[in-house]
Amino acid sequence: MSDQSPFDTDVQTMTRFVMEQGRKAKGTGEFTQLLNSLLTAIKAISCAVRKAGLAHLYGIAGTVNVTGDEVKKLDVLSNNLIINLLKSSYSTSVLVTEENKEAIIVEPERRGKYVVCFDPLDGSSNIDCLVSIGTIFGIYRNVSDSGEQPTENLALQPGRTMVAAGYALYGSATLVALSTGQGVNFFMLDPAVGEFILVERNVKIKKKGKIYSLNEGYAKYFDPALTDYIQKKKFPEDGSAPYSSRYVGSMVADVHRTLKYGGIFMYPANKKSPKGKLRLLYECNPMAFIMEQAGGKATTGTQLVLDVKPESLHQRVPLIMGSPDDVDEFLSFVKKHEANA
Ligand code: F6P
Repeated sequence: MSDQSPFDTDVQTMTRFVMEQGRKAKGTGEFTQLLNSLLTAIKAISCAVRKAGLAHLYGIAGTVNVTGDEVKKLDVLSNNLIINLLKSSYSTSVLVTEENKEAIIVEPERRGKYVVCFDPLDGSSNIDCLVSIGTIFGIYRNVSDSGEQPTENLALQPGRTMVAAGYALYGSATLVALSTGQGVNFFMLDPAVGEFILVERNVKIKKKGKIYSLNEGYAKYFDPALTDYIQKKKFPEDGSAPYSSRYVGSMVADVHRTLKYGGIFMYPANKKSPKGKLRLLYECNPMAFIMEQAGGKATTGTQLVLDVKPESLHQRVPLIMGSPDDVDEFLSFVKKHEANA
């Protein structure tokens, strides 16, 4: 074909990208297997999200359809898809999902060398009103000795030890952000071919942005440092323009916008939720990994998110992440208030 062709005949798909990385690292192909299965689940979730109304997938779990099957809500469906596809990828031993209280221990004959923590469909309050939602995942090595029975403890590793993390955003298009520890790349789903195509390589966040993002409806419960910080964003004293405020209420969408445009996203501790709301293992850690890999910062307010030693599967931590200068500025407010306390 001539160079004038509208078709790129040598596109970089995500599978190809990961396979090439695996080759360079002289891997066994198990990670590629894992990722392929996860991508299949993400494609199926994307498809279900797009036709949810027609397929009666909105908010009606527990009802029975004409064939007598239980009709599943999108989040239940997404959870089952990811669990089944990861188990059948023969590459995982332990799975932790927002939807299951206990960790899932993969049966011995299907076990592999990875541990995956995921939120199958994040932003659940936005499902029924067609606002963007997402899937988040973090991948760790199974660090137990071979032959040892895997336990949930394998999922309680600090985020810093993750081998890969990412998210899928079901927005006006479906996009996957992936990092295997060598920067962040964006892949867009081409629905016609059913493949994720590399669209942005080595994504970097701005040093400083112009947007702050948090649920300001909780202002009554904010601590003084946060109140002071937000006030300064609205009424800057250095002659600069005030920041814009944006809050989707779906973490994946809010973090993705922060990566693209810069700024700060927060789900901080407050008087009502002293540990914040977001879950360390499958919300904060994977997003913090992506953020750091893109040159940003992610903190709980007292330590880097990736350095937190997890104590339980569904533990919550406060989260402040985004452009490095914005996060540092927020932390300077925390320090100032501590010093004055
Ligand atoms: O944890 C689920 C979630 O929907 C996140 O995606 C989002 O950032 C947050 O909750 C929104 O919570 P709130 O409604 O309290 O602002």
